[in-house]
Parts: sequence; structure tokens; C-alpha cells
Amino acid sequence: MRKSISTRSFFITTVFVILFIYACTKGGGGNNPPPNPCSGVTVSVSGTTTNPSAPGAANGSISVTASGGSGFTFSINGGAFQASGNFPNLGAGSYTITAKNGNGCTGSGSFTLTDPNPCAGVTITVTGTTVNPTMGSSNGSITASASGGAGGFTFSLNGGTFQASGAFNNLAAGSYTVTAKDANGCIGSNTFNLVAINPCAGVTITVTGTTVNPTAPGATNGSITASASGGAGGFTFNLNGGTFQASGTFSNLGAGNYTVTARDANGCTGTNSFTLTAPNPCAGITITVSNAVTNNTPCQAANGIITVTPGGGTGPYTFSLNGGGFQVSNTFSNLAPSTYSVAAKDANGCTGTNNATINNLPEGPLFAAVRTVLQNNCVSCHNNTISEGGMNWTVDCNIVQFKDRIKARAVDGNPSPMPPSGLMPASERQKITDWINAGGRFTD
Ligand code: HEC
Repeated sequence: MRKSISTRSFFITTVFVILFIYACTKGGGGNNPPPNPCSGVTVSVSGTTTNPSAPGAANGSISVTASGGSGFTFSINGGAFQASGNFPNLGAGSYTITAKNGNGCTGSGSFTLTDPNPCAGVTITVTGTTVNPTMGSSNGSITASASGGAGGFTFSLNGGTFQASGAFNNLAAGSYTVTAKDANGCIGSNTFNLVAINPCAGVTITVTGTTVNPTAPGATNGSITASASGGAGGFTFNLNGGTFQASGTFSNLGAGNYTVTARDANGCTGTNSFTLTAPNPCAGITITVSNAVTNNTPCQAANGIITVTPGGGTGPYTFSLNGGGFQVSNTFSNLAPSTYSVAAKDANGCTGTNNATINNLPEGPLFAAVRTVLQNNCVSCHNNTISEGGMNWTVDCNIVQFKDRIKARAVDGNPSPMPPSGLMPASERQKITDWINAGGRFTD
């Protein structure tokens, strides 16, 4: 085990000795390495550039000088080193120029050559003519041309694809931007507004026509024959907003108001109204109204009656009183005294009127006799001023209304006689009895 350790120590020692000898030989026998000639040396490259004179031209150049040493050579973009710092025949681009001095120390600089802007100072002018579309159509167009720049123009509409022609067709109303591009890519643009043309502005379509009225009330054999003028011609016609047709004749029409519209080839329209009138079914017809009247009985609910007998027209008739609704019955009942306007209307709507007067029936003789009895025996205590027991016998209808009380008091003496001084003679009382037995009405 001891022997093993000793052997390894020997080996390590030998390796160090060999390394030491090698180091002394390589360093030229000294203890320090030789100085780096570029240490502390900065090689700088500066220069001027000349840009290419035209886009794509390779006549630009870079001319450089270097500092930080002497005996420089120069390389562009890692190429071969050359003595001159001038690099001609260059196109636009970025270049790295490296300078190397006599000691091999290097430095570099970056240079950029740019093409001139072909559009600087260039103005492309776009002009053009427009054709406006007709309203609702896409038949407008723009024909554009361009000037300025290098020529060789192409054109684009609203940022679309460039095309050789400056003509753009099938355009609807609207605002359009036409861009022109010359051979150098320089652009100019202009805006064109297309306005829809109303073909009917200032156009008047006049519709005239003749009518044939229906031959009978309710018949639909009338017609309208319309024609139109003005506008572009090529008219079509419709009736009351219906479908347009080539003919201006509309048949099978009944009485009424009709509107005929004519439309020309441009869609411009004009209208006219026509009235078809059926013959008057009442022409020459006189509806007669004769009224039979039953007069009213006073002092009770109105009971006048008018019974109408029409004539002169076509039945069935209906009847109206004082402008009220027409009714089927020819009798009007429960009428108070008055003068009434009675109308009769026949099946064709023909009417006639006549007045009917309902009067009150006259008083009857039995009533008149009773009134005389009361005037003579009772009114002194039963009048407008004194109305004993609430009774006023100067009003005829009071006599009728309270006849039962009159009989009770003045005929029967029940509960006590009237007049209070004693019952009237039997002949007077009999007049009351006779009237009541006859019905006790004003007319009895
Ligand atoms: C002198 C006055 C006087 C005379 C005349 C007279 N009355 Fe009267 N009458 C009265 C007085 C008072 C009353 C109320 C007291 C009563 O009902 O008895 C009355 C009440 C009545 C009443 C209402 C009471 C009921 O029973 O309905 C009737 C009806 C009436 N008299 C009928 C007659 C008649 C009919 C005559 C004539 C034939 C008549 N009177 C004459 C004084 C009079």
C-alpha cells in the first residue's frame, strides 16, 4: 500500500516538470507572453457615401479612411482586402467596410446607400369624365386619365386592382376614388361623384280617356279607354293600382270612381280619375206616399197612428218617420199630435215623402156634459187657486184621470158626498154615471 502511493507521486511530479519545460520553450525562454500588437489600438473607419443616382442604379459609392495605425487595407462586406478605401459601383443597400492596419488590427464601419425617391416632387394628376347612372341602375361610368410622373399609368377604382384602362363602367350612384400609378409606382388620385339621374324630373305624363257608363244600376258593363301622352312613350296602364297592362282599356266596370295610371318606358307615371255613373233608377219615377191617420185621444198615452200606402215605385218598400231609420212596417203607432214627415223607399232606393198630421180627437158629448156638471157644482172649491183635496176640475184631463173619485164622491156619496152640502140631483149624477159607463174618456 505504501509503495502504491509513492508510485503515484512520482507520476504527478513528472507531468509538472514536462509542462514547465514546455512553457519555457514556448515563451521564448522568458517568464511573460509576448505583447498583443492590437491591445489598446482602436481602428476606426469613417467615410462619405454617394447614393445611386436613380432607383436600381449601381453607381453609388463609399469612400473611407481609417485611423488607428498605418498601412491600411479595406474590405467591403467581408470581401478581399484592397489598398483603396474607395468602393464604387454600388447599388442601394447596407455595407460594412473593414479596415486592417499593418499589424493586422481591424475595425469596421457601416454605411447605407439609398435610392432616390422616384416620386419626390412628382405629382400625378387624375382627371376624368363621368356618366351619371339613371336612378336605380348601375349604368354610370368614369373615364379617367392621368398626367405627370413617368407615364405608363395604370388605374384602380376604390383601392381595387390596377388595370391598364382608366374606364370604369357599370357604376351605381356614389362617390368613387380613382387612383393612377405611373411606371415608378408614383400615385395620384381623384374623387368622382356619380349622381342618380331621375328620368322623370320635369316629365309630365298626361292621362286622358273616355268612359262608357254601366247601362243599368248595379250592372258592370261600363268601361274606360285611357291614353297617355308625354314622357318617353311606350305606355302601360293600370286601374286603381293594379297590374300594368299594355292596353289602356278597362272593361266590365260598375259605377264608381276609378284611377288610371299610365307609365312610360322610363317608369314615369301620370294618373287621372274617371267616374262611371249608373243610370239613375229613379229617373222618371215618383214615389207617392199617402198616409191614413188615426188621431190621438187626449188625456192618455199618445195613441195616434199613421198608416202609409206607397206607390209609383218597385216594391218592397220601407218607411221612415221624420228622417229616422227605414222600417219594413208601414205603420207608425203611439204618436202624439204633430205633423210628421213620412218617407217611403222602394226596392231601387227611390224615395217619396208626404206629411201627415195627427190631431187630438174632439171631446165627446158625455164628457162635455160631465164637465158642465162639475163647472156648475164643484169648481168653486176645486180650481186653479183652491183645489180642495188636491183636485182642480178646471183641467179637462183631471176629470178623466180622477173619474173614479168623482163617481165615489159625487154619485155614491162615499165616504161623504160632494159637494159637502149634499149630493146633486139624480139627473146630474146620472150624467156622470153615463159617461163612465161609456168608457170615461175625453172622447166619450
Ligand atoms: C164647498 C166646497 C166643495 C164643493 C162645492 C165640492 N167639494 Fe170636493 N172637496 C171639498 C173639500 C173640503 C175636500 C177635502 C175633504 C174631503 O176629501 O172630504 C174635497 C175633496 C174632494 C175630492 C178628493 C177626495 C177623494 O175622495 O178623492 C174629490 C174627488 C172631490 N172633492 C170631488 C168633488 C166633486 C165631484 C164636486 C162636485 C160635484 C165637489 N167635490 C164639490 C170641498 C168641496
